[in-house]
Amino acid sequence: MTPDTLSVTNPLKYKSTPVPMPETSPSLQPPSLVSPASESPIKARVSQLNFYYGDYRALKDINLDIREKRVTALIGPSGCGKTTYLRCFNRMHDLYPGNRYEGEIMLYPDEVNIIGPKVDPIEVRMRISMVFQKPNPFPKSIYENVAYGLRVRGVRKRSLLDDKVEEALKGAALWDEVKDRLHDLAFTLSGGQQQRMCIARALATDPEILLFDEPTSALDPIATARIEELIAQLKDRVTIIIVTHNMQQAARVSDYTAFMYLGELVEMGDTPTIFTNPSKKQTEDYITGRYG
Ligand SMILES: Nc1ncnc2c1ncn2[C@@H]1O[C@H](COP(=O)(O)OP(=O)(O)O)[C@@H](O)[C@H]1O
Ligand SMILES: [Mg+2]
Repeated sequence: MTPDTLSVTNPLKYKSTPVPMPETSPSLQPPSLVSPASESPIKARVSQLNFYYGDYRALKDINLDIREKRVTALIGPSGCGKTTYLRCFNRMHDLYPGNRYEGEIMLYPDEVNIIGPKVDPIEVRMRISMVFQKPNPFPKSIYENVAYGLRVRGVRKRSLLDDKVEEALKGAALWDEVKDRLHDLAFTLSGGQQQRMCIARALATDPEILLFDEPTSALDPIATARIEELIAQLKDRVTIIIVTHNMQQAARVSDYTAFMYLGELVEMGDTPTIFTNPSKKQTEDYITGRYG
């Protein structure tokens, strides 16, 4: 790890506008990791994913591709499995007994199945970080919150920690507000600042994918707008999956949208198409507010 690994790179080889996706799940096609120049490569491929809480099957045969350095939004009524799905990506379910995954989440370019038995869940959580619904600062200083993942990784060198903490806070658009109070308790920040600090904590280990589970549901409109702005900036360097209940938010921040219902993926496509011309009636009913 070098201090400059967090610096923002903007690979202009990728077009910023999303490319229309086929109507069927792209996962049903053979893998084509060499994408057309205009399309972003696949960062993760979810194949036949099932998830069980004990005997309860909460996810059913999910197939879905996640494109690199794009924002994929997950929408669907409460209880349809969005959080369950997101938590598969960083092995959060391993923290509780009785949970079971089936299928594959293949991470590219290394081609590692991150839900495979040989993979260390702690290392997965460094590479795929999560930001939760409510900001969850640890009862520590702002500095120590952001340095947390680096310390878990064994980084001890003070100058390196300082650099990474600063970079992560800059990446989360919080540095200017906290640079003179890094050793204050994180609880002294406002809710919106705490959420940006949690984003900094997630960024500090240079993750490849950032997972957001309704990250603005506890925030006011101004703090929400700042987080949305931040997400737009972050996708230059990281792949993002965001769960949101807010249809306008999904439409504003995402390139692709996936609609889930009762543990299944109903359809996925580029966001403008899903919102204006979805191919499934269930999707249309949901986005037009007929249920959910
Ligand atoms: N820890 C758990 N144990 C058993 N069932 C759970 C657990 N967490 C969630 N579920 C169930 O799994 C389904 C999906 O939940 P969840 O992923 O939280 O949905 P969403 O995030 O879309 O609201 C729901 O039926 C929910 O009741
Ligand atoms: Mg949820």
